[in-house]
Amino acid sequence: MLRLDLAGCTRDRIGDAGLGKDDLAVNQASLQALIKQLHGSDCNGMDRWRKLPHDPLRADHLDAVNSVLDALPGDVENLVVLGIGGSALGATALHAALNSLTWNLVPRDQRSGPRLFVLDNVDPDLVGATLREVRRVDPDFQRTIFNVVSKSGETAETAAQFAIVQSMLEHAGPSSTARIVATTDPTHGTLRTLADARGWPTLPVPDGVGGRFSVLSPVGLFPAAMCGIDIQGLLDGAAAMDAACLDPDPAANPAAQLAWTLVSMARHGRSNHVMMPYSNRLSPMADWYRQLWAESLGKRHGLDGAIINAGATPIRALGATDQHSQIQLYREGPDDKVIGLVALGEHDERVPIPVRDDAETLQYLGGHDLVELLDAERLATEYALVESRRPNFTITIPRLDAPSVGQFIWLWQMTTAMAGALLGIDPYDQPAVETGKQATFGLMGRPGYEDWSRRVKDTLG
Ligand code: PA5
Repeated sequence: MLRLDLAGCTRDRIGDAGLGKDDLAVNQASLQALIKQLHGSDCNGMDRWRKLPHDPLRADHLDAVNSVLDALPGDVENLVVLGIGGSALGATALHAALNSLTWNLVPRDQRSGPRLFVLDNVDPDLVGATLREVRRVDPDFQRTIFNVVSKSGETAETAAQFAIVQSMLEHAGPSSTARIVATTDPTHGTLRTLADARGWPTLPVPDGVGGRFSVLSPVGLFPAAMCGIDIQGLLDGAAAMDAACLDPDPAANPAAQLAWTLVSMARHGRSNHVMMPYSNRLSPMADWYRQLWAESLGKRHGLDGAIINAGATPIRALGATDQHSQIQLYREGPDDKVIGLVALGEHDERVPIPVRDDAETLQYLGGHDLVELLDAERLATEYALVESRRPNFTITIPRLDAPSVGQFIWLWQMTTAMAGALLGIDPYDQPAVETGKQATFGLMGRPGYEDWSRRVKDTLG
């Protein structure tokens, strides 16, 4: 199992900046009630995502993903995911964590799946260059799969990308359009209607599984499975962490501990929450966490309708790189942060540092390896944070395999749900995202949204 070490947030370690046993004692009853509430839910509302690692939903999704995979040609060279936000971040995070960082650069016989491109933006430089590269290697798109992912089926960015891809495929010939797999709502929405009409294979994003909680649904499982990731292992890890996060004893429940610590810290003015993995492979996972924490907890209204402007700002950092960029601020700048370090128990590579005799002052490095150096840097950073009385914690992942990554994802999803309850907000809506979407529709000329375009012009001139 993952190890969560919150000692760096305690008074014992960082003095008055830390939380004391008395703080936990005060909250013991409310945490117990919260865990009881999680046990009591039938998970048929917006928390339906909690059923993802368990049968029957788990088996349904594995069957659905495997049957789409079985029907695809065996020599796929490019998988292009079209999606944004929760429909894209999970695919990128899983692939980075569980496949090699040079995956797209190595020959096909050295990879267990196609090259992966996730188009998670409408930046023309990204979309244009990526599609050109896909076409360079596969001019007729016979060895390319386009996985369009949109729960609503109407997100402007994904719809625009998809229109570009569809036209490109139609141009390349009728058989090319067979290269589309649509992941969307099982019954509703424009993408569902289109997919049913055109006969594209589809995968479901069930009700109650919002984008940022969907990585362990077919949204993330299909691209992961195509790229050789053990998706059963991911779900096994999530199920194991689920059991731990339902432990009725708050002191033994990692999600309750983490949620309580971070919410308490935010209440004490430490509302910037940094995730700093000491692993490049986990850097996209920190982006996934940023969306989960920000969009779920950043809410103007409490459940009772009062204006509370709740939330904490998630920040991505990378060890050891950001020791040379951010740590100065984290140690001596405003005391408004909690720094979460993520350590790996084992790396796939060690990379020895050779002993050299050309510079005496650098000889101490020789004979060690990069794992030792990276670990030393992390411990040194933890020490430095404690020394300056800055709250910090460490999550240790034994090694980057599918069960561990499933555990990590589940820990944060459960922590987010509990943090939402502690803050008294709805973690499953995102009303503030709507204004920008409606205004974009207006500016792009969507009928019915003319008023939005006028409002933008009146306000911005
Ligand atoms: O977490 C969320 O709900 C959002 O980030 C959505 O995933 C994102 O807006 C994309 O929505 P859709 O999947 O409907 O295209």
